[in-house]
Amino acid sequence: MSTSPKPVKKVPIHLQSAQNRVYIKNGEIVNHDKTFKADVYIEDGIIKFVGPASEITIPGGVRTIDASGLLILPGGIDPHTHLQLPFGGAVAVDDFYHGTKAAVAGGTTMIIDFVLPNKHESMIEAYDKWRSWADPKVCCDYGLHVGITWWSKSVSEEIGILCKELGVNSFKTFMAYKGLYQLNDSDLLDVFERIRQLNGVAMVHAENGDIIAKNTQRLLAEGITGPEGHELSRPEEVEAEAVHRACVLAHQVDCPLYVVHVMSKSAGIELARARHRYRGRYIVGETLAAALGTDGTHCCQLFEFDHAAAHVLSPPLRPDKTTPEFMMKLLANDDLQLTGSDNCTFNKEHKALGVGDFTKIPNGVNGLEDRMSLVWEKGVHAGLLDPCRFVAVTSTNAAKIFNIYPQKGRIAVGSDADIVLWNPQATRTISKDTHHHACDFNIFEGMVVHGVPEFVLVRGRICVENGIVRVAEGFGRFIPTPVRPPFVYDIIEGKVQSLPEEHHDEKQNGNMAKKFAELD
Ligand code: URP
Ligand code: ZN
Ligand code: ZN
Ligand code: ZN
Repeated sequence: MSTSPKPVKKVPIHLQSAQNRVYIKNGEIVNHDKTFKADVYIEDGIIKFVGPASEITIPGGVRTIDASGLLILPGGIDPHTHLQLPFGGAVAVDDFYHGTKAAVAGGTTMIIDFVLPNKHESMIEAYDKWRSWADPKVCCDYGLHVGITWWSKSVSEEIGILCKELGVNSFKTFMAYKGLYQLNDSDLLDVFERIRQLNGVAMVHAENGDIIAKNTQRLLAEGITGPEGHELSRPEEVEAEAVHRACVLAHQVDCPLYVVHVMSKSAGIELARARHRYRGRYIVGETLAAALGTDGTHCCQLFEFDHAAAHVLSPPLRPDKTTPEFMMKLLANDDLQLTGSDNCTFNKEHKALGVGDFTKIPNGVNGLEDRMSLVWEKGVHAGLLDPCRFVAVTSTNAAKIFNIYPQKGRIAVGSDADIVLWNPQATRTISKDTHHHACDFNIFEGMVVHGVPEFVLVRGRICVENGIVRVAEGFGRFIPTPVRPPFVYDIIEGKVQSLPEEHHDEKQNGNMAKKFAELD
């Protein structure tokens, strides 16, 4: 068993040297807690100065960028990607190069991908495999979560090694994908207990896999074989039930829980209820660019197979067209805390594996490049989020939860110079013909979005400049995520209270009902 990651391919120095010193002037900084006008000076990939021009003398040989009219944002952190994932008989076409290039093009400067071991495979060997895939290819920094796809004493021991030696603090469990990744409640409890013991963060894919298996059999027997069968086999309540159950299980063993890809109104409400029930302890939730930017009507029989299959992911996009705005309101209210992409892209020929049987459609959609613009368009431009909340849900909250804040997720002295110069007025039209992904479809095709990253700096290296993307393969580094994130554990241990008193008084149910009526 090897615990040493493969050597990282070094980027030739000449690709970086001219850009070691960058001065950004006349912009407006947006952090999750405040906005202010200040200049930023960067040296060797680190922010060295934030303040008024009068307080700094800029040395020679510096690249100066005039950011007048632009916002200076912490680079996006996408906490949920599956680059080059082998899944459902195919391999996701966005590999660690194309995926991170697309990320950077859209203003995301760090991703956290999922190691998904096969059943009975060593977690450490799988981790080494992911490192060997990612390290030579990544154009921006990255971290790793590890999937607990089976359970045994050896897995329990390996979780300890991953936490203590290999820079992984988060572990994804599955309540769905029966026969593949699904764990039962008893195993989930053991896994959550072990993660709590190590001061890690449990993650969960919350859908009831047993119900899905039963519904699937019935639908296929009835002759419903097209992509529309996917959502029919796993309707909203199947997701909502699992969210509720996962939150209860985690609470029983005092373990913090991150619910990934919350895709429906009912599931979002269950998550919000659990957060309120436990007074903001234990539970955080992520929704996806896909859930905010499109809906499940694209999977109906009106569309040809290719179009519908291209929208298949799990949990599914919901046919209820009011879902995207509802999810955005949950983000605005801190009922959800993060946005990911779940980027897991397959081409037409891969999706075609499911012709005649929707269960064989490889699951997954794009979102890594467009997540930032989509959240801006549907959130800030639509008047539902302010720019600070935008930064929180696209970057800072992920940095805090996975314990890499303020190295990432903040514009401040000492932080990595992962910076986006954002033009809030400019628009662009999303298309598969212009995106930087390797895939042949874009679920947001034709959408015009406000919010364009005019410059993107990855650890001080200018990788996007006026729409031109120049990334360096292998420039990204693996960023260890240490255990015991204070943002999560200070709340669990009662050192900090996250929700104000009125959220958990005796009238909670009444208040919640009112709140959700307002949201609807
Ligand atoms: O459909 C999806 N979400 N594919 C990726 C695997 C997962 O469950 O996140
Ligand atoms: Zn999942
Ligand atoms: Zn469509
Ligand atoms: Zn996923």
